[in-house]
Amino acid sequence: MTLQEKIGQMTQAERSAVTSDPTQITGLGLGSVLSGGGSTPTPNTPSAWADMVDGFQKQALATRLHIPLLYGIDSVHGDNNLLGATIFPQNIGMGATRDPALVREEEHVTATETRATGPQWVFAACDCVVRDDRWGRTYESFGEDPKLVEEMETSIDGFQGTSPGDLARPDHVLATSKHFAGDGDTAYGSSTTGTYTLDQGVDITDWSHFSRIDLAPYVTAVQDHHVGAIMPSYSSVDWTEDGVGNPVKMSANKQLLTNVLKEKIGFKGFLISDWQAIEQLPGDYATQVRTAVNAGLDMFMEPYNAAQFEQTLISEVQAGRVPMSRIDDAVSRILRAKFELGLFEHPYTDRRNIGTIGSPAHRAVARRAAAESQVLLKNADHALPLKPSQKIYVAGGNADDIGNQAGGWTLTWQGSSGDTIPGTTILKGIEQDDPNVTFSEDASKPMNGYDVGVVVIGETPYAEGVGDVGNGHTLDLSATDQATVDKVCGAIRTCVVLDVAGRPQIITGELPKTDAFVASWLPGSEGEGVADVLFGKRPFTGKLPVSWPRSESQEPINVGDPHYDPLFPYGYGLTTRAVSH
Ligand code: GLC
Repeated sequence: MTLQEKIGQMTQAERSAVTSDPTQITGLGLGSVLSGGGSTPTPNTPSAWADMVDGFQKQALATRLHIPLLYGIDSVHGDNNLLGATIFPQNIGMGATRDPALVREEEHVTATETRATGPQWVFAACDCVVRDDRWGRTYESFGEDPKLVEEMETSIDGFQGTSPGDLARPDHVLATSKHFAGDGDTAYGSSTTGTYTLDQGVDITDWSHFSRIDLAPYVTAVQDHHVGAIMPSYSSVDWTEDGVGNPVKMSANKQLLTNVLKEKIGFKGFLISDWQAIEQLPGDYATQVRTAVNAGLDMFMEPYNAAQFEQTLISEVQAGRVPMSRIDDAVSRILRAKFELGLFEHPYTDRRNIGTIGSPAHRAVARRAAAESQVLLKNADHALPLKPSQKIYVAGGNADDIGNQAGGWTLTWQGSSGDTIPGTTILKGIEQDDPNVTFSEDASKPMNGYDVGVVVIGETPYAEGVGDVGNGHTLDLSATDQATVDKVCGAIRTCVVLDVAGRPQIITGELPKTDAFVASWLPGSEGEGVADVLFGKRPFTGKLPVSWPRSESQEPINVGDPHYDPLFPYGYGLTTRAVSH
């Protein structure tokens, strides 16, 4: 391989950048292309996806060495860029299920639907340990306890399989543990830009805490589950042992990327940078590239400047500032993954499973996941389960909004409210059990004569730092939600509230007005799974994956803290028995 061919393998461009000129893939010898959140072909159909990826693959195979292309995508709760894909509860809800086997099944379904449409590599699952629920990526975490996150690394098994040869099969993809490490453990308000961003912030920490809380899941991801790729975090680590004040970005952290992760823990896969993450490093672009490569990054998500990246790194190697041994190590890791995926033998999309996308069998798995993710926090006078004979009044902004119940990373990067994807809303699920339900989103319809009111409140979609508290969000209920709860719970004898949100909201003031309260998280496309537990078709079994604060000022609040006094503790959840109707 020439130096340019080697460095081409280390370069990843965005779909949109190469769509305008696919010959770039051949010209640059690109090793990979990605779809960022919401970067989809038109039309957004399974065959259009597979045709697009195969078109790029054709370009890659036209190079001198015919090295096949890796296509990466954020399938973080299903193949969520694809319209019609099965959309699962976000990870925080999957953490609430305490069901590792179900998480494995979820990711096997996701791998099947993803690979059938072309991408052979997912930037999932997040092995982040969320320690401050004000973080906009709280819902991407399985929870605040690293042991729970480790238990849910069956996600990697679901994605990759566990037997030799599984990765080459059409129902498996390469997985990525992210974001290494401590992305969910940043100090609030620490941002150097002065704004309160938790996302991409700074861990002010010591080795004992960092290794126990933030690093531990990566040891198991590598040593027990053999994850194929790892994505370093945008965040930084600032060691208190060295005297706070010297934060080092993960993408530049040779001690953690190479000495700890690759050499000590034994990671044999490859490190993929986050989106333009190296451009946050100190110095000019050549310094950023050199620092990141020498720190141990292997492939570079440089969505729109692949050519500049390649040229810069070639110059750095030729100037002797990046050793060829580092390039050879990176390329070997990347090529090994392509061999294990079977791409040299079968570079084009195996479409045999395209018919399973959004199938009843796949949706049944997501429906069970939605049901198991529900956490019952209060159930006075056995308000739940509901009985179909009851006269039910449903209200609230998240009762009939599938976009809100899916959350971010759904069709678009930030997600959006409304009737965005096929599936069932929570209201539609309730109506299947009791067609006589009255729905009034703002509770403006008369409420006399009803046995029970169900109010579905919560958040609207966001992703990453956009969702950070301090970036236009709080943990408080919206005024509209509070008003709807007050209205319905003030008028109807029995009142059940569901909170459809990516994280705990502050409910201390509203809770006493309710008879039952359910943490629904972001249940995905199968809202009828929520109705299943409301009507007792399935029992409530979910347990809190994060501590539920009394007030925002309690954050960060985590199990094991001294003076731990949440509204509901980590692991809390009432159970009910399934009832036959
Ligand atoms: C984003 C996220 C990362 C994602 C990547 C590609 O900024 O930080 O989780 O995999 O870019 O979309």
